[in-house]
Amino acid sequence: MDNSLQKYVENLVREKGQITFAEFMDIALYKEGEGYYQKQNPFGQQGSFYTSVNASESFGRTLARSFVYLTDVYELEKRFCEMGAGSGMLANDILNFLKNEEPDFYNELTYLIIEKSEYLITRQKELIEKEHPDKVKWIPFDELSSFNGVFYSNELVDAFPVHRVIRMNGEIKELYVKEIDGALRFSPDELSTPELQEFLDNINLKITETQIVDINLDLRRFIEAMAKKISKGVMLTIDYGFEAPMLYQSYRRDGTVTCYYNHTQNNDFFERIGYQDITAFVDFTSLSLYGQRDGLEPLGFMPQWLYLVQSGILDEIEAAPTDLAKASIKSLIMPEGGFGTNFHAFLQGKGIDTSKELKYGRPAKEVLNKMAEIFSKNETSD
Ligand SMILES: C[S@@+](CC[C@H](N)C(=O)[O-])C[C@H]1O[C@@H](n2cnc3c(N)ncnc32)[C@H](O)[C@@H]1O
Repeated sequence: MDNSLQKYVENLVREKGQITFAEFMDIALYKEGEGYYQKQNPFGQQGSFYTSVNASESFGRTLARSFVYLTDVYELEKRFCEMGAGSGMLANDILNFLKNEEPDFYNELTYLIIEKSEYLITRQKELIEKEHPDKVKWIPFDELSSFNGVFYSNELVDAFPVHRVIRMNGEIKELYVKEIDGALRFSPDELSTPELQEFLDNINLKITETQIVDINLDLRRFIEAMAKKISKGVMLTIDYGFEAPMLYQSYRRDGTVTCYYNHTQNNDFFERIGYQDITAFVDFTSLSLYGQRDGLEPLGFMPQWLYLVQSGILDEIEAAPTDLAKASIKSLIMPEGGFGTNFHAFLQGKGIDTSKELKYGRPAKEVLNKMAEIFSKNETSD
């Protein structure tokens, strides 16, 4: 393992005395050529973690169905924008579905991708342009404006750098990265920016003594920018996380930021720098509150399984050709051990008729009965 990024961080910390954890995380994940997302494929078996996209193409197919539905209900332009497209597999699965099953929609569709990692843009192009030449346009975030259509992300916001704050002797301090006794460690000091206290005040959060809270200021910048960029459209954010009262419960004493290396979770933040993922749970309350300030209204917040079920994933299970394929799709909606428990889907909209009733409000009983029917079917082996 080449440790040049480790050396870079150590030198920077020595030079500045200390850096925020957000600065550290941004370097570890995104430093050009060396950060975790800027080299080798971070996803799937050879990477450090799986996302829903790796579990089954039915994730993309089901989202595609829901985007066609939302486009229709809200009379949007046929324009999708995906941010943080990773390996490009989600875009590819969505486009494959539309090309085969909604060819008219596909022909009229414009598909945009916003991606921070130059390395991943190259990978995405390699994958998508084989089947869908000239269909996707990669644009910088700043170029998105007056957006009309469906904007979405899967596990984007959890990959934004976070600041860490702690309450000590009744005061809120920030945890910096500092060199102590020759090693990188956390060290408390004054807040690096008043925005951190503002963030806590906005959700009316009182931290208990010695509790650590991870604050995602980029989430605020992102959603405030999106509220200005969308003129008429919906925005779907899928990620792990909760509403603030759940997320910042005092039993989560050590915050939620954590690392993944070779599919194993650890909290050795200063080891394997650039070779492991670092990620934190998403605060959906802040996404909602900061979005609303500029007219991005919440339309629905629900567990990922419920969003996928209401969007038609049970039909995917029924149509899957093998037990293995069925099991992979089920992992997307299983409450235990799958993508069911911590993952949520949050729909926001602007410039649309928010009084229209969405199918996502379907009665729980109807949804659960259909789930029970499908899950109890005795599947024979392949
Ligand atoms: C955890 S990965 C998820 C990838 C993919 N959506 C999936 O579900 O497999 C996070 C992705 O977001 C990208 N990303 C992070 N911050 C970003 C930003 N500010 N702008 C655009 N892309 C960003 C990363 O480079 C990476 O592609």
